[in-house]
Amino acid sequence: MKKSKNRGEKRNDDSLCTSRVLRGRFSYLYLIMGKRSDFIRRKRDFYPTPVSALEPLIPHLPNSFTYIEPCSGDGALVRALESFEGIAKGGRFRPTLEYASDIHLPWKVTQLEEGSHVHCKHGLCAYKKDVFDIVDVEDNVDFFITNPPWDRNILHPLIIHLSSIRPTWLLFDADWMHTKQAAPYLKYCIKIVSVGRVKWIPDSPHTGKDNCCFYLFESERMVSERKVVDFCGRQA
Ligand SMILES: C[S@@+](CC[C@H](N)C(=O)[O-])C[C@H]1O[C@@H](n2cnc3c(N)ncnc32)[C@H](O)[C@@H]1O
Repeated sequence: MKKSKNRGEKRNDDSLCTSRVLRGRFSYLYLIMGKRSDFIRRKRDFYPTPVSALEPLIPHLPNSFTYIEPCSGDGALVRALESFEGIAKGGRFRPTLEYASDIHLPWKVTQLEEGSHVHCKHGLCAYKKDVFDIVDVEDNVDFFITNPPWDRNILHPLIIHLSSIRPTWLLFDADWMHTKQAAPYLKYCIKIVSVGRVKWIPDSPHTGKDNCCFYLFESERMVSERKVVDFCGRQA
């Protein structure tokens, strides 16, 4: 059985028995038993991205750009990017969020109605939307940037889907690139930025067990001429 990518949470051997929903104070967790899962996993793979995981990506982004966060969760990645605004790149770093969306909006996220472009003064405003329902985007959008679900059944179609629309930066485990299952998707990958281990659970003393990367995927048309993947190792 393949191990799940559990992002550093405690393994529960009960999970070797059966799929079930935990009640009470663990109700936000659920157990799944399957291809990549013998660990407790968070529902919908909800693991917010800390600022430290974004830091290695900043030098690889333009000074100013517009992006969509299509699996935004509670907006941790959006806030992390914003925390570098006016500071990184000699103060010239200006990320503009076109919109954030997620299949499930946590309670602290205000739901936007489709077509409205109201920006919240506090917290995150986002559309409730399945990533696979994003079919086109405004011309001004430069990238998708997200930390997606790592479940390969979602991740692989997500790579193809988003990168066919716009260049797509995705944060997930570094081990993936060495697996056979990655082969059909690596041809869409033009850049890999090493991130290392990420502390997914803020209060935990531990980092996740997986080293991570930001992968940049582009459409088949864009990558057809490119033979070499740009690999950027750790800076510190
Ligand atoms: C690992 S969390 C990351 C949250 C956020 N991107 C961040 O970096 O803090 C993955 C998110 O993907 C969302 N998700 C899962 N399946 C999705 C789908 N089909 N469409 C859109 N979002 C999805 C989950 O609800 C969850 O919020």
